[in-house]
Amino acid sequence: MSTEKSRLMKAWEWHEQRLPIGSFLDHSLGSKYPAPKNLNYWWNFGSLALFMLVTMIITGVFLAMNYTAHVTLAFNSVERIMRDVNNGWLIRYMHSNGASFFFIVVYIHIFRGLYYGSYKPPREVLWWMGVVIYLLMMATAFMGYVLPWGQMSFWGATVITNLFSAIPGVGDAIVTLLWGGFSVDNPTLNRFFALHYLLPFVIVGVVFIHIWALHVPGSNNPLGIDAAPADKIPFFPYYVAKDVFGLGVFLMVYFAVVFWAPNMMGDPLNYVPANPMVTPPHIVPEWYYLPFYAILRAIPDKLLGVVAMFGSILILFVLPWLDRHPVRSASFRPIFRIFFWIFLANGLMLGWCGAQLAEGLPLILSRIGTFWYFFHFIVLLPLLSWIETPKPLPASISQPVLSPAE
Ligand code: HEM
Repeated sequence: MSTEKSRLMKAWEWHEQRLPIGSFLDHSLGSKYPAPKNLNYWWNFGSLALFMLVTMIITGVFLAMNYTAHVTLAFNSVERIMRDVNNGWLIRYMHSNGASFFFIVVYIHIFRGLYYGSYKPPREVLWWMGVVIYLLMMATAFMGYVLPWGQMSFWGATVITNLFSAIPGVGDAIVTLLWGGFSVDNPTLNRFFALHYLLPFVIVGVVFIHIWALHVPGSNNPLGIDAAPADKIPFFPYYVAKDVFGLGVFLMVYFAVVFWAPNMMGDPLNYVPANPMVTPPHIVPEWYYLPFYAILRAIPDKLLGVVAMFGSILILFVLPWLDRHPVRSASFRPIFRIFFWIFLANGLMLGWCGAQLAEGLPLILSRIGTFWYFFHFIVLLPLLSWIETPKPLPASISQPVLSPAE
């Protein structure tokens, strides 16, 4: 037995000398990676996002084995997956609900960053990579939703691709290029399938850079102050154990929905095959786009609406320069904290507006919400950076626990 073990050890060392995978993992996710000792549960959502990314790729590859990207066959091929393919229903529901859960996790991950100022120096590039991932996720999910070729797939694709026609001069040419013809049709479905398969792997690449950029400064923490080496603990076993616990809780919620309410977040109209001759009375995108859809429709001019919608995401790239307050964590910025919660409530309100018809009260509220969204970034954050007096910061991560009175 002992010779057997030493042989295994020798083989491992032989391999490590040639390709040090073990030591690489130990430095990036293991006992050689120090993390601040005060991270709370909001820090679980990065690893959960990673878990969802992998889940989406695995379930997606199995779906692709049985899916047919053709306008006459796509809808039926999905029904066949649901009824005839072994465990096809489970794989499909894990994938379709997985998209929603991936967005829930990533939204919490983003708002955690907004609250604790994780976008501030020296983590700007890490933040940028996050925004790039978010944009890629939006594009991937949009194209994925078209694939079952139901009514919402078809009409959602028609409405959203048409937005590009608002670009002066080249707009129509761009739309024709996206469609591969003069309407949403078979070439559109084909290119969306190809890109929907490709983009998740591009996301994997950007996530790699995201985590690389995280490892240079290391994690921020709820106090937002720099952690001294004495205030750090090894990622393995401490945060690995905490992440696994969080994953267990998350899986209970995820699978409760997959098994008992798999269509809760979907639109029943997507169980009707796409019909270019029948426009649904109310075209609604998936819930995770709703705030942006509300911004788009809040502005009467099509081009300005499109600019505002894309601008509302692109503005995140310059956030580190809009909020220049030297204190990171909202825990020490009482005024910023109030506006953070107002911003979150405003986002939820915009989401509600996005699901309503663009008229009456929802339209008025989406106009107020759109104004507030940009006002928060362009006026409030720069102003607060300048005038807000923060609460005194603790001298170290241990101080508030060991001697809170000081
Ligand atoms: C596929 C999607 C994503 C994955 C897999 C991912 C993964 C991770 C992981 C594993 C961490 C370290 C653990 C943690 O701090 O929670 C992290 C940190 C971070 N991520 Fe992401 N992320 C994703 C999307 C995003 C997005 C969309 C943003 C922002 C727009 C973002 C911004 C950040 C920031 C600022 C940190 C540092 C947090 C801190 O140290 O306080 N991430 N990410």
